[in-house]
Amino acid sequence: EGNDGIALGKLLADTGYVTLDSGFVNTASCSSAITYIDGDQGILRYRGYPIDQLAGKSTFLEVSYLLIYGELPTQAQLDDFTTRIQRHTLLHEDLKRFFDGFPRNAHPMPVVSSAVNALSAYYQDSLDPSDPEQVELATIRLLAKLPTIAAYAYKKSVGQPFLYPDNSLSLVENFLRMTFGFPAEPYEVDPEVAKALDMLLILHADHEQNCSTSTVRLVGSSNANLFTSISGGINALWGPLHGGANQAVLEMLDEIKAQGGDTKDFMKRVKNKEAGVKLMGFGHRVYKNYDPRAAIVKKTADQVLAKLGANDELLDIAKGLEEVALSDDYFIERKLYPNVDFYTGLIYRAMGFPTRMFTVLFALGRLPGWIAHWREMHEDPATKIGRPRQIYTGYTERNFVDLSAR
Ligand code: ACO
Repeated sequence: EGNDGIALGKLLADTGYVTLDSGFVNTASCSSAITYIDGDQGILRYRGYPIDQLAGKSTFLEVSYLLIYGELPTQAQLDDFTTRIQRHTLLHEDLKRFFDGFPRNAHPMPVVSSAVNALSAYYQDSLDPSDPEQVELATIRLLAKLPTIAAYAYKKSVGQPFLYPDNSLSLVENFLRMTFGFPAEPYEVDPEVAKALDMLLILHADHEQNCSTSTVRLVGSSNANLFTSISGGINALWGPLHGGANQAVLEMLDEIKAQGGDTKDFMKRVKNKEAGVKLMGFGHRVYKNYDPRAAIVKKTADQVLAKLGANDELLDIAKGLEEVALSDDYFIERKLYPNVDFYTGLIYRAMGFPTRMFTVLFALGRLPGWIAHWREMHEDPATKIGRPRQIYTGYTERNFVDLSAR
């Protein structure tokens, strides 16, 4: 436990023992007080607060504050936090031109991660991990600028002009306006859409040592700055086994629909482990029970789709797949349940986001969690540079062979 575990690990390393744990199935890389998961019971809490309470009663900015600073804010703290973020929503004008260099058909994830990495070049007064004021400034800048960057990546992809942020709006409203609005035209934010998106961001805000958060910690452990560490996390998130699953789920549902909507046939292919065929949005390394976030998203999908009048045939296909899976031995034996991203794509699509923006929305949500972990790591005196060991399986020593003799 804690430092005892670190001492034991060091003792074993000194005696020549190395633990091989591919995929870190049972290896803790750190101790953390941010997020608690009980995968068997389907429990998720941020700083002790159950996810359903936060999703039902809180806001994304409040939850961001909670994750990063450890406590729910008072009204005065929340007002101050909100104002500081609003002051930093603009992007440097030169950084705006950065987007011109990308092809219009580029996936927005590398565009977003590159722009976030470029913050290190434009905001050099907030790069020092050992200076709390600089870390705080980088924190506020990231929370403020990622929605602007995400909206600009979208605008670039559809060839529309960028909008400056309107700081009279909330973070989510501002993002929706910068994404779907046009300069000099009024944009009415649908309050129900804004509320649903805010809630989805809360559900994605942290999930302890997942692949992208572990990446943020590993990059940051070399004392790399916060912007560049978060950029690493965004890249890790893009993979279809992680955040990219929300895009992959919709593509899978589209494919099933195009082939006549036969869920049973698709499930047969999954169970036969046909190359490349998985039930995307199902399964989780930690949850061996229903992902509590998925339950909330499923309910929201029904509400949002009904409200937006989006009679989505894909929702019926998704529910059909879930029904088959929950009563099928293959899934029962392996404890495979829907994860957070099984139903999110349907909501994002009904809101008007193209499939390729889905993982960007995940990144917007996960940002406060990444920041909280990076900061916690730097505040922990036990932190060392991340440097896993390996079990070497290559050649023993052999002599160099001259090119002419090979
Ligand atoms: N469809 C079909 N079979 C699956 C699925 C799935 N979605 N997920 C796991 N399995 C099977 C595996 O083939 C394996 O079977 P086996 O024991 O016969 O070999 C068994 O269940 C255990 O799966 P692992 O891959 O060993 O589990 P792991 O913990 O390494 O992977 C992961 C977890 C990556 C999430 C996996 O379940 C998966 O690929 N799911 C689909 C992608 C996805 O939805 N990712 C999002 C995860 S949540 C998030 O990041 C937001």
